[in-house]
Amino acid sequence: MATKESLVSKLARGVKTALKPSNGTTNAKADRATPLLDARKAGTEATPKMLQQAAKDNMFLHFTRHSPYYTAKGEIPIITKAQGHHFWDQNGKKYFDGISSLFSVNIGHGRTRLAEAAAKQMKELDYFPLWSHAHKPGIELSERLLSYAPKNLSRVFFTTGGGEANETAWKLAKQYFKMMGKPTKHKVLTRAVAYHGTSHGALSLTGIPSMKKMFEPLVPSTFRVPNTNWYRAQDDFATEEEFALWAANRVEEMILFEDPDTVAAFIFEPVKNSGGCFTAPKIYFDRVREICDKYDVLIVADETIDGFGRTGTMFACEQYGFEPDMLVLAKGMTSAYAPIGALLVAEKLFEPFKSGTNIFPHGYTYGGHPVSCAVALENLDIFDEEDLVGNVARNQDEFKATLDKLRDLPIVGDVRGAGYFWAIELVKDKNTKETFNDKESEKLLRGILSHRMFEEGLYCRSDDRGDPVVQLAPPLTIGRDEFNEIEQILRGCLDEAWKAM
Ligand SMILES: Cc1ncc(COP(=O)(O)O)c(C=O)c1O
Repeated sequence: MATKESLVSKLARGVKTALKPSNGTTNAKADRATPLLDARKAGTEATPKMLQQAAKDNMFLHFTRHSPYYTAKGEIPIITKAQGHHFWDQNGKKYFDGISSLFSVNIGHGRTRLAEAAAKQMKELDYFPLWSHAHKPGIELSERLLSYAPKNLSRVFFTTGGGEANETAWKLAKQYFKMMGKPTKHKVLTRAVAYHGTSHGALSLTGIPSMKKMFEPLVPSTFRVPNTNWYRAQDDFATEEEFALWAANRVEEMILFEDPDTVAAFIFEPVKNSGGCFTAPKIYFDRVREICDKYDVLIVADETIDGFGRTGTMFACEQYGFEPDMLVLAKGMTSAYAPIGALLVAEKLFEPFKSGTNIFPHGYTYGGHPVSCAVALENLDIFDEEDLVGNVARNQDEFKATLDKLRDLPIVGDVRGAGYFWAIELVKDKNTKETFNDKESEKLLRGILSHRMFEEGLYCRSDDRGDPVVQLAPPLTIGRDEFNEIEQILRGCLDEAWKAM
């Protein structure tokens, strides 16, 4: 048997080694049944039953508890079509898409214009990377994104999603400070219970311990500061502003504790998703800007969800009046019709790359794919033509007022959010704000609520990464009738859940 040393040196020199794959791993697929491929070859349609079986046999779904699918009654929901703010499953059941599928389909489903834009782009230039080259839809989309963005931002680095854009922000921050003669600045602050993505870097930025546990050790050098959970802070502070100032000052405390010479950036969502749509008053962002400027710490606004009208302005930083040094965008950019993400950066961060042999050694094969860029441009045309951001701004108070009616239910502790992005926090005792423990929360959310809402045809998120919440983020096209429909369905489900607990 090869010793470790000889094996390493053989591998290094490319010499064939004696190691073989273990028995049973080779050609395992050779005699597998392929009913879907057979149907395709025969020119026939796969039946719903065949699809269900093939999904169970072959797929490994994201963030999914698979065990229920292997029980007698367990079925993977298979979604077959979508139109406007509805989608249908393969049994023909219709659902209200109360969370824009994954906080993404901002213009609603079924817009054929985007399909045509994708087809046109594929026929003209199917693909070319943004590695030392550019293409027309990418150039046009860069200009377009910057036209909506805070004026200090002047460059666009494309990715394929939000997590990659957060990775990019952290790497760029590290390189920037190295090039500026501050090589020890590398740490990043993020907020507790924040979700910033799943790759090792983005997961390190994420503040949800249960998501990280299985992947430790992660990338070191990230630190958590408090989020702006005003509902749970109310007893300790006279006003929300006073509390927000306290929360912002924790950023300074952490920078000082970690040493300003080592801290590169603070990454946060202006309206924070995980934990349930935490907003903050303007004073929070003003104070954070002041602190970060004082210690030369970059501000990265992660608007993966917040962006593209979700919170009532094109980008959330606009309504809070602050200019981030970097802005993370994704989801709503194409309304999820094609994958894309972007990091918008201030010119000062691009400055060092204008001279000499300097490069940012970072990129993605599909970052800024021309088809996705073309789809994004068409999506943004629809945003402008239909004034979707204006629709949210005009209707957000009515949406809130409709959801606020649910406060008469004993289980509803808080209703919070902005624009078309709302969370309803569920409590055991309204007066004391006592929350459900882990076991109760499991029963409430997974055992009762998510099933009941799905049965009633409302797709939204019930989540307990923080305290238990139901979240809504519908397409930006809806109005009063749909707000009422959502409220009515939720009312019934929440009432039933309360009685069953
Ligand atoms: C705030 C935030 N950041 C980052 C991400 C990760 O984005 P992606 O899944 O596109 O990598 C998400 C995803 O939901 C998000 O909500």
